[in-house]
Amino acid sequence: MLIMPSTLGPRPLDEMLVCSLVPTLGSLGRTWKHEAPEPHRGHRPHGVPVYVCPETPALVVLLANTPVDLQQAAAQTADAAPYKDAETGIVFKTWSAGSGGASAAGGPFTFGLALPEDALTKDADEYIGLLRCHIANNAVPGYCGLSHGESGQMTQALLLMAWPFNGTVYTSFRYATGYNMPVPYTGNATLTQISSTFKAGQFELIYRCKGCFSWSQGGTTGSVSTKSGNLVLGRAAAKTNLHNPACPDKAFFGFHDNGYGQWGANLEGTAQKDYAKWAAMSIPTAATECTK
Ligand code: HEM
Repeated sequence: MLIMPSTLGPRPLDEMLVCSLVPTLGSLGRTWKHEAPEPHRGHRPHGVPVYVCPETPALVVLLANTPVDLQQAAAQTADAAPYKDAETGIVFKTWSAGSGGASAAGGPFTFGLALPEDALTKDADEYIGLLRCHIANNAVPGYCGLSHGESGQMTQALLLMAWPFNGTVYTSFRYATGYNMPVPYTGNATLTQISSTFKAGQFELIYRCKGCFSWSQGGTTGSVSTKSGNLVLGRAAAKTNLHNPACPDKAFFGFHDNGYGQWGANLEGTAQKDYAKWAAMSIPTAATECTK
């Protein structure tokens, strides 16, 4: 969706604003604050300046420099129809990033979200998620992961990573203060696996994430609001190079060379009346091997 906020005055055509998450033109009346790109905070994909609505910091507007940038930003993670998992019956709203575009090079990535029934009127701190990710290397896995906020940034946000190894999907919560390998998260998030499956070069994890919409590490806190009706999430995927895979908190890995980016997730259609029933499902936690 392209918008020209009147409060910013006329701009050259090649400086159109992409608003990936303001779903209605009602937002045009707000005042927009320019937030200079701050590499250490990671609030911009690919050096694209970011505008933040002061009333609702979760609303982020990307200022694209060229029409090509606009197309890439808009195409990164597309909104799809609801998806019902056949095995569990869980209904997700899903977003997928395919191949193509500077930040989506490589295989597919799908994230699905189901929220508690009242999450659009009362902030939830948990969700049921679906991650469906590419497997590029069976012997030395890569990973895929999610940033929970506030603008889908890598730094100062709760990160979740998942990777396949020997028929098991392992996960690790991580946290980064800079653009280097995120360390284990020490806050209160917990993950329960609801199902994990493998098919045709992909793995899929359905999980319950508790304590995942607010976080705290090293004196820094962050949170996102489900009742705002929008989240900005981030994704990242790597083809290989994840080592010590059976010991999630001691696993080490490299840059996400299989696509990364941020996208606006409109939460309409994510609150589910059967949430509590689905959230009670679980499969046994994968055994870890932490000898090294
Ligand atoms: C050794 C591991 C990692 C390294 C060296 C790394 C490095 C980087 C760098 C340099 C960027 C900026 C790229 C640019 O501006 O074009 C970036 C962006 C990003 N990374 Fe990572 N990353 C790592 C792991 C992760 C993980 C595990 C996640 C998520 C679970 C993640 C999520 C993101 C996201 C969402 C972005 C785009 C938003 C932003 O710029 O903050 N990264 N990463």
